[in-house]
Amino acid sequence: MKSQDYSLGFIGLGRMGREILPRIHSLFPIRAVYNRTRSVYNELPLEGITCASAPSELAEACNIIFLSLTDTEAVESILFGDNGISKSLGSGVIIVDLSTISLDGALRIHERLAKMGVKYLDSPVIGSVGAAKSGNLTAVCGGDESAFNRVRPLLASFSSKIFYLGGSGNGIRMKLINNAVMGINMSAIAEALNLSGSAGIPKSRIMEVLLTGGASSRILELKRGKIERGDFSPEFSLDHQLKDLRYAIEMARNAGVNPAISATAEKLFAAASTEGFGKEDMSAVASGRGASAAKQYKEGKI
Ligand SMILES: NC(=O)c1ccc[n+]([C@@H]2O[C@H](COP(=O)([O-])OP(=O)(O)OC[C@H]3O[C@@H](n4cnc5c(N)ncnc54)[C@H](OP(=O)(O)O)[C@@H]3O)[C@@H](O)[C@H]2O)c1
Repeated sequence: MKSQDYSLGFIGLGRMGREILPRIHSLFPIRAVYNRTRSVYNELPLEGITCASAPSELAEACNIIFLSLTDTEAVESILFGDNGISKSLGSGVIIVDLSTISLDGALRIHERLAKMGVKYLDSPVIGSVGAAKSGNLTAVCGGDESAFNRVRPLLASFSSKIFYLGGSGNGIRMKLINNAVMGINMSAIAEALNLSGSAGIPKSRIMEVLLTGGASSRILELKRGKIERGDFSPEFSLDHQLKDLRYAIEMARNAGVNPAISATAEKLFAAASTEGFGKEDMSAVASGRGASAAKQYKEGKI
């Protein structure tokens, strides 16, 4: 596929969007971007790219539109809200949604856009800002296969692994399975590290040993340094992890699957968020500062 076949738009210049955008743009020029908070345009090198004043304005110029937005509500508002892109979408447009949203939301959006002749690919990404910057995300994609084949070279500009998983919603299903397991693993690490004081073994030593055997995990490898340094500046925010656990629990319940383990992890993340750590990195649950989580545990709520 040649770059002139694409008229690309990108919406959502948050932590992930601002890393993914330049990777696509270096190979396939992006025509227009939109971000709700417009001051962001001044923080980024966007020379030669139109900074749209509304999603509908961006949609007038683009036939493939990427979204990298917080949640279902954000995606539906950009698509169908006042000045949403659906106001000016032409038939044949492909929307590539990199956001992690609910399964019900993804299926609802597929259906609504299909009626307008628009192909919607649920294509969330696995990996955080470091992987986005180096082009090593994993893309998991559901939706129309011919639309997927058309955008595959674009996905490859920021993803070293790409999985087409079949029909609508399967990208989101896979992503929510992934993030439930990730949140559960992080909760297990938090619990283990809380024993550091009573055991008299430093947290760094506990993590060093865990990494040698079957209790190791990719999330421990990735977050060990942050936990050791007490640096909880956000890569993947605790509130985003909480959102994904809630979406995964809803998906499991609707499928008749018991989400007991995810539900326990959700309580830990919810307690940490209530306590004010929601904007910090998700590894902040292992910070040992979760006093309200400890209180809830003593009260038998976790
Ligand atoms: N960070 C990660 O490590 C990571 C990894 C994999 C997947 N993800 C997923 O990727 C998505 C983006 O994550 P992120 O970390 O980049 O999030 P982020 O930094 O919080 O950015 C969120 C983006 O969504 C926009 N937004 C939020 N609510 C909106 C609304 N109601 N209307 C319009 N725009 C809205 C924000 O615009 P403003 O600038 O105006 O707030 C911003 O551009 C999420 O679904 C997340 O779960 C993140």
